[in-house]
Amino acid sequence: MYIMSKLPNVTTSIFTVMSKMAAEYNAINLSQGFPNFPVDERLTDILANLAKENVHQYTPMAGYPPLMNQIAKLVFDSYKRTINPDLEVLVTAGATQGIFTTILALVKSGDEVIILDPSYDSYESPVLLCNAKPVRVALNDDYTPNWDTIEKACSSKTRLIIINNPHNPTGKILKEDDFLQLERVLSKHPDLLVLSDEVYEYITFEEKHISAHTKDFLLDRCVMVSSFGKSFHITGWKIGYTIAPEYLMKEIKKVHQFLVFSVNSVSQAAISQYLDIVNVGLLGKFYQEKRDYFQKLLKNSRFELKPCEGTYFQVASYAAISDEDDVTFCKKLITDHGVAAIPISTFYSDHKDQNLIRFCFAKDDITLESAAKKLCNI
Ligand SMILES: Cc1ncc(COP(=O)(O)O)c(C=O)c1O
Repeated sequence: MYIMSKLPNVTTSIFTVMSKMAAEYNAINLSQGFPNFPVDERLTDILANLAKENVHQYTPMAGYPPLMNQIAKLVFDSYKRTINPDLEVLVTAGATQGIFTTILALVKSGDEVIILDPSYDSYESPVLLCNAKPVRVALNDDYTPNWDTIEKACSSKTRLIIINNPHNPTGKILKEDDFLQLERVLSKHPDLLVLSDEVYEYITFEEKHISAHTKDFLLDRCVMVSSFGKSFHITGWKIGYTIAPEYLMKEIKKVHQFLVFSVNSVSQAAISQYLDIVNVGLLGKFYQEKRDYFQKLLKNSRFELKPCEGTYFQVASYAAISDEDDVTFCKKLITDHGVAAIPISTFYSDHKDQNLIRFCFAKDDITLESAAKKLCNI
C-alpha cells in the first residue's frame, strides 16, 4: 500500500549517521552532543535510593509537584523571575518534547514560523506536521542574527519565531542589543510569539547568558524550553521543562496530555531532590575549562577554531586542509583519521557548505587528548 509521507524530506539524522559510522570504524566520537564522563554520584545515589520508594506510578500530568516547585525556585534563583509552578511549568520528556508540543499547540495550518539557520534539527518537522510553513532565515556570517532580514521575513502569517540561545551548533550567545532588536520586531507584530530554546542556559563562558526570563517584553509571549539532560550530564534520561504564561501553557498542556500524559516518575523525583544540592552556577566554569583545554590541544593543528561563547560545541574550519564538502570531509575524518564530527551544512535548509565542522567537547580529558592527537596529525 502506498503511504504519502508526512515528512518526505526527513531522513536518518546526521547525528545518528555519524555516531553509527564512528562505532563501525572505532573512531573517537566528537559528533553527537552528549557527555562521556560519569554522572554526579550524588544524583546516582538519589536514584538508587528512590528505586525502592513509592515513586513508580503516574505523576500528575504536568509534572511531579515537588519538581515543579523546584523548577520555579531554579528560575527565581537564576533570573529573579517569579513563576507559578501550577500554571506556568510543564515537565517534558526532554526539551525535544517541549519544542514539539509547543509548536503543535500554538501553530495552525497556514501559519509561518521563523527558524534561524544554521539551526538544530528539531524545529522544522513539527512545523510541517502542523501544515505550517518554516521560514528559514540565515544568521550573519559571524552567526549573529540579522534583525533586518528577520523583520523582512515577518508577515501577518508569522506566528512564531524560534531562537536558540546559547546556540547549537555555533556556540554564539545573544547580546542585549539582540533583545532590543527582537523587542522592536515584536512591537510591530502583536500576534507573534517566541519559542526560546535555552537548553544550554547554564553553559556560557566569558559572558553571562541573557535568558528570555529576564526580559519583561517577552514574559507574556514567550515559551522557554530547557533540558536537565544538558544541565546535569544525563541526556539519556530525556527530561526537561517548558515555561510559558498561563494562557499559552493551557494549550501546551492539552497537547502534552495526549502526547505523553506524564513524564517518567523516578527521574522527576530524583531531579527534584538533586536540585536541593546541585549548583548549576558551576556548569559554565566546568565546560569553559574543557573548551580551553580542547582549544589548547588543537592549537598546533591546521583547524581554525571559531569563537565559542557557550554550549559544548566547537566549530572549526578545515579550509587549510581540504576543499572537499563538509559531509565528505567528516566521513573521511572517521574512516581515515578516526575522529567523528558533524558537518555544519546539515544545519542549513540549503545545505550551505563553508568547510566547517562541529566538535563536541563534552568529553573526558583522555578522549579529548586522543582526538586532538589524531586531529593534529592531519
Ligand atoms: C539546541 C537544542 N535544543 C534541544 C535539544 C534537545 O534536548 P533534549 O535532549 O532535552 O530533548 C538539543 C539537544 O542536543 C539541542 O542541542
